[in-house]
Amino acid sequence: MSAVLVVVPTYNEALTIAKAIGRVRTVVPEAHVLVADDASPDGTGAIADEMAELDENVHVLHRQGKQGLGAAYVAGFRWGLERGYDVLVEMDADGSHQPEQLPDLLHALDNSDLVLGSRYVPGGRVVNWPLRREVLSKAGNLYVRLALGTNLRDATGGYRAFRATALRELGLDKVASQGYCFQVDLAWRAVRAGLRVVEVPITFVEREQGESKMDGAVMREALWRITHWGAAHRMRQLRSLTGRRAR
Ligand code: GDD
Ligand code: MN
Repeated sequence: MSAVLVVVPTYNEALTIAKAIGRVRTVVPEAHVLVADDASPDGTGAIADEMAELDENVHVLHRQGKQGLGAAYVAGFRWGLERGYDVLVEMDADGSHQPEQLPDLLHALDNSDLVLGSRYVPGGRVVNWPLRREVLSKAGNLYVRLALGTNLRDATGGYRAFRATALRELGLDKVASQGYCFQVDLAWRAVRAGLRVVEVPITFVEREQGESKMDGAVMREALWRITHWGAAHRMRQLRSLTGRRAR
């Protein structure tokens, strides 16, 4: 059986972290959990430490300060790869991602390298999102499809499962995305590397407690990076059309 590590990045999730970890440990007891906390001022890290003391399959990675979702995942994945986990999962701490759906993601990984929990394939849905957030997410995914020429329905989602072999191939060292565009970054790397990427439907339930860490800086970083990746991709396509070799 493969060893599974669920990486949960946290910044000020004291209200929700215990429940999220508890659900994972109940529903998929064989999976281990790593909380990657950016020194949350609200004490999330201490709560995670308490849980880790009572449960040897819960671990905590304490980081210096708020450095972004992407940076936290890169550190968490490294931690897991160094320890030989076969499968690395991304999951939010706020209850938006249902641990009850984790078996679906893991099952789909039997025949793929990266499974994207997807809100926008048949069967997938979002519960309780304000219209503004829904429009932003749909527009973001449309922009990703147009800029990068992929047909992924949900390249921005944050509930996923990677084979360790796939993550090693994607080159975490070269990932510069600090914020949420990390999600698009890794999906795009996987597509370009020719890995098998599949989407399985999930139900994303908006958090009831605490608040989103999505802000203007996160959106600006996503916009410029995706535009840049898209332009580089079009240049490569153009070069191959005109018969010159891309170096
Ligand atoms: N360590 C760390 N550092 N964790 C962070 C940081 C950070 O700088 N920023 C956010 N997180 C953690 C949160 O604590 C939470 O557990 C998770 O990342 C998701 O953050 P939210 O702020 O709840 O994200 P969201 O609900 O707005 O966005 C979700 O949907 C997006 C797609 O629409 C996430 O799943 C995103 O990854 C996803 O792109
Ligand atoms: Mn959230």
